[in-house]
Amino acid sequence: MACSMFNGTDKLALISGFTPNGLGLIGSDFHGKMQFPIIGFDNKQIPKLDLVSNARNFKAKTLIPRCSLAESRPASQPRFIQHKKEAFWFYRFLSIVYDHVINPGHWTEEMRDEALEPADLSDRNMIVVDVGGGTGFTTMGIVKHVDAKNVTILDQSPHQLAKAKEKEPLKECKIIEGDAEDLPFPTDYADRYVSAGSIEYWPDPQRGIKEAYRVLKLGGKACLIGPVHPTFWLSRFFADIWMLFPKEEEYIEWFQKAGFKDVQLKRIGPKWYRGVRRHGLIMGCSVTGVKPASGDSPLQLGPKAEDVSKPVNPFMFLLRFVVGSIAAAYFVLVPIYMWLKDKVVPKGRPI
Ligand SMILES: C[S@@+](CC[C@H](N)C(=O)[O-])C[C@H]1O[C@@H](n2cnc3c(N)ncnc32)[C@H](O)[C@@H]1O
Repeated sequence: MACSMFNGTDKLALISGFTPNGLGLIGSDFHGKMQFPIIGFDNKQIPKLDLVSNARNFKAKTLIPRCSLAESRPASQPRFIQHKKEAFWFYRFLSIVYDHVINPGHWTEEMRDEALEPADLSDRNMIVVDVGGGTGFTTMGIVKHVDAKNVTILDQSPHQLAKAKEKEPLKECKIIEGDAEDLPFPTDYADRYVSAGSIEYWPDPQRGIKEAYRVLKLGGKACLIGPVHPTFWLSRFFADIWMLFPKEEEYIEWFQKAGFKDVQLKRIGPKWYRGVRRHGLIMGCSVTGVKPASGDSPLQLGPKAEDVSKPVNPFMFLLRFVVGSIAAAYFVLVPIYMWLKDKVVPKGRPI
């Protein structure tokens, strides 16, 4: 199980705060506090937050990790669907209803357009890759600004991609199967890297973000949209059984370690949540960073966390899959609960 790789010896030293010039270098120390700009729902920058991370201050000696979750992310969380094989089967079934069931509750067109705004899709001729593009819901937002022929949708699920192929505005996009942690694009290839709602299934998110850095051109921008970790105990329980819900500071840390500059995080969420984040969000933030130099990322990583060619015990696989899927079902109910609350509680009052 890939989670077993997330042990103490694999962790990177963390960076001590966000500075516009600061790279997250292997071997630096982390002193507990992390500062970074957060853009709120109203597009205004929230005054610099001091997010106290639980990361311990540890001495960095030999730190070339296989996978790289922060110290604040306990290795013990099961996260049954945070693996490529499970994600493959999960989307084998979910793809049938994805556009009709998942998007209306968690990922509306309005949220998508809000989340893509920091990607700065300012030129129709830009080369864009949409990684974990699935049924093409986010790509539909991208092709409003960029010519479809310049956009590549990549996903590991042929079932999700089959849905994207049916969409008329995406007819000219290149659609390919592939792995977010090992992208089939040359170094310095794209002007924009977009990935929405996919990081939560990557066994090694840092590796995927390092790949984002590699495939971008000098000055290119990555825009990664993903979940945020719940603070309410029941939601946190189910989230941690299902998949990876990173904390905001973890996104920033992964971007900085990959070598990105001008890293920013914009909070997003369905409007009927009225800004509530305690239940976590499947699409909770849009993180952007700019590639400051051509070539590969300065970060070095060891071999991939998950070997998909390795045989698995079918009984254990099924058990993990079923438990993970049950946990996922909780997050179908949460947006309905929040929607009802929004209807019942008078406007202007907290929910
Ligand atoms: C929640 S869907 C998001 C789809 C789309 N981006 C959207 O906005 O609707 C997550 C997608 O990530 C894909 N995925 C998961 N792990 C992946 C990996 N390692 N490489 C490529 N795609 C992956 C899944 O197959 C799925 O289509």
